[in-house]
This record gives sequence, C-alpha cells and structure tokens, in this order.
Amino acid sequence: MRNYLGRKTTILVALLATTSMAHAEDVEVLHWWTSGGEAAALNVLKDDLGTKTIGWIDMPVAGGGGEAAMTTLRARVTADDAPTAVQMLGFDIQDWAVEGKLANLDAVAAAEGWDAVVPAALQAFSKYEGSWVAAPVNVHSTNWVWANKAMLDELGIAQPNTWEEFIAALQTVKDSGKTALAHGGQAWQDATLFDGVVLAVGGIEFYKKALVDLDAEALGSDQMVEVFNRMATLRGFVDDNFSGRDWNLASAMVISGDAAFQIMGDWAKGEFVNAGKVPGTDFLCFRMPGTQGMVTFNSDQFAMFEQADAGAQTAQGEMAKAIMSPTFQSAFNVVKGSVPARTDVPNDAFDACGKQGMVELAEAAKNGTLIGSMAHGHANRAAVKNAMYDVVTAHFNGEYDAKAAAENLVNAVAAAE
Ligand code: BGC
Repeated sequence: MRNYLGRKTTILVALLATTSMAHAEDVEVLHWWTSGGEAAALNVLKDDLGTKTIGWIDMPVAGGGGEAAMTTLRARVTADDAPTAVQMLGFDIQDWAVEGKLANLDAVAAAEGWDAVVPAALQAFSKYEGSWVAAPVNVHSTNWVWANKAMLDELGIAQPNTWEEFIAALQTVKDSGKTALAHGGQAWQDATLFDGVVLAVGGIEFYKKALVDLDAEALGSDQMVEVFNRMATLRGFVDDNFSGRDWNLASAMVISGDAAFQIMGDWAKGEFVNAGKVPGTDFLCFRMPGTQGMVTFNSDQFAMFEQADAGAQTAQGEMAKAIMSPTFQSAFNVVKGSVPARTDVPNDAFDACGKQGMVELAEAAKNGTLIGSMAHGHANRAAVKNAMYDVVTAHFNGEYDAKAAAENLVNAVAAAE
C-alpha cells in the first residue's frame, strides 16, 4: 500500500512539475515517428518550431501505421486530456471532426492561402464541412519497392518492370540463399503489400470498386482471389523470422545486404537516407511492378485538438503555419522520404526518388490514377480498414486459402460497415 501511494505521489509531483514548466506556447505532439529516419524528420519539425519559440512536449507512441497511437489518443481524449497536436491519417481526421473535437484552422488557412496550394485529394481529408481541421505535412505513397543495388548487380538482376519479372527476380535471390523479400509480419505491413497487389492485379478501377466503394462483387471476385494468390506467392519469399518484425528492421535488412527487396511506403527511404545511402548508387526505388503510373497515397496531417487556453490556441496556429511553409515542407520531406503536401514547392533539394515521387504524384492526380491507401487509412474508415487487416493477415499467415480469403473479405467488410 505504501509503495502504491508513494508511486502515486511521485507521478503527481512529476505531473505538477511538467505543468509548471510548461509555458503558454507549448505544444504537446502525439505521433508515431520513432524509427531512425522518422526521428530525423521529426527533429526538423522540432527545430523549426524551436526557432519560433514554440515549446515541444513529445508524446511518441511507437508502431508503424499509427494504430497504437490512435488507441492512446482515444484514451487521452476520453480522459479529457487531449494532446495539442496529433499526427493523423485520412479518415481518422474525419472521424474526430465528426465528434467535434478538432480546432478550426480557417483563420490561418485563409491568411496563408492553403486553398490554392493544397491538392484536392488532400483537402478532402484536411477539411470537414468546408473548414480546415488539419494541416498536411506530406504525401507518402505505398506502392514502392526498395532494393539493394549491389545484391542485384551481383546476381545479375535488372530492375523488374512486370509482375512476372519481379517474381523471377525474387526467385533468383531465394535460389542464391539470401532473403528475397524483407518483411515484417504485422497487420499494417501485410496490408501495405496488399495495397500494391490489388493495384497490380486490377488497376485503379478495381482498387476503387473493392477498397473504396466496398463493392461486394469486386471484393469477392476472381480478381480478388488472384490478389490473395499473389500475396501467398510473396509470402514464399519472406524469411522465417518475419513475424512481428518492425518495418524499419526490414528496411535495415535491405540496407545491410541481408535481403534484396522491401515493398513499403516511401518512409522506407528515410531509413536508407538516414544510413547515408544514395539512390541509384546504393539502392533502387521503383513502383511495384504492374502499378506504374498509379499512386496509392497517404498524407500525414496534424490535427489540432480544441483547447480552452488562448496561449495553447496561439501555439496551435503557429504550428500549423510553420508546417505549411514551403521551405519547411522541402526540408522536412527530403528527410522523411515523402513529398510536399503543397504543389508549389521546388524539387531542387530532393534526391532522385523524391523527384520521381513528385512527378508521379502530379501526373497521377492529373490522370485520375491517384487513390487513397487502404493500409494507411485513406480508403475507408478505421472499422472497415481493421476488418480488411484481419483477413489479409490471417490469409498471409496461412489460416485459409485465396478463395476463402476473398469470401471472408466480403463478410468482414459487410459486418464492419
Ligand atoms: C505514416 C508514415 C510513417 C509510417 C511508418 C505511416 O502510416 O504515414 O509517416 O513513417 O506509417 O511508421
């Protein structure tokens, strides 16, 4: 009992100390940027805010894709203790807006002219009922492959452009005794592969019908069975220890030459760059074979939770303004692996993969081949996304075959809707 009370007292004292240290211009930022590359990008943001004398209270919740962060957020809001600013994806922003928890950013958006420079595909998530409720810091996309160039050269593998070439390349690596596909067995990572495979099998129309419109026929179609067959093929190229592995450790396998390829969003590039690697020389970046010309995107945005305190509100506005400045968007995204959320940021500072990403994003937006990533909360609400995660992961782990997986997908989505 004494121990328990003692601990409680210590926590209380610590809390009071934090509160009294905090000044009006602090922001408490909840995020899941905890890998090496992510932390480097986060430092760009922290340093930028530091120059504007906005204090930073760090609230990291590890876990790629942000599921754990969103669970923590829910607990904090329920306890009436919402953080000031929260990294958030797509439909989660909309869900919190519906609950009336987000601050209105229209004043800063109007003063800074956001309407004219943020693409419509992002505004669809940043705005609720016509008002800005989040500031987009970047655009990531999920249909990328990262490859160790030295290993490919050594094995005589050219960059694969078609699905068949990709599978042949994976087979060559496997035959050499090395790990062909670096992967971490976590639901969101399996789903990230699934994004690309759906696109490769059926193109934008099929992706949209199945993952965005949730059309039961598309979800249970022969094409979806083919998607699951391909997922099983990919599973055959993963090493035995993949279960539970974090995505950045999978990236590290490619960086160090323990594995040849990783299918992952372009935050993976942040890991390569953070390790001093150069695109074209040390590693290759290319779209998942069969998805060239198409982009499955997700955008990290900062949503501000409504605060009563005027100082906190000022800090939120300042943070939103800082995030949206063109120079910051360049500096941050060069490190993060993503591309700017504004259309008017010069590409000079970006490496070859970043430049490619910027061009492809603009072209896809123009051609109608830009679509939200299911795995990263931009195709449907969390309940549906999680239902899809369950089926994709169960199948990836061999719980059922491709045909049963497609059937289960139809049922799981119907139950979640
Ligand atoms: C986020 C990225 C992050 C990645 C892995 C994605 O959902 O958009 O910013 O780097 O998860 O943590």
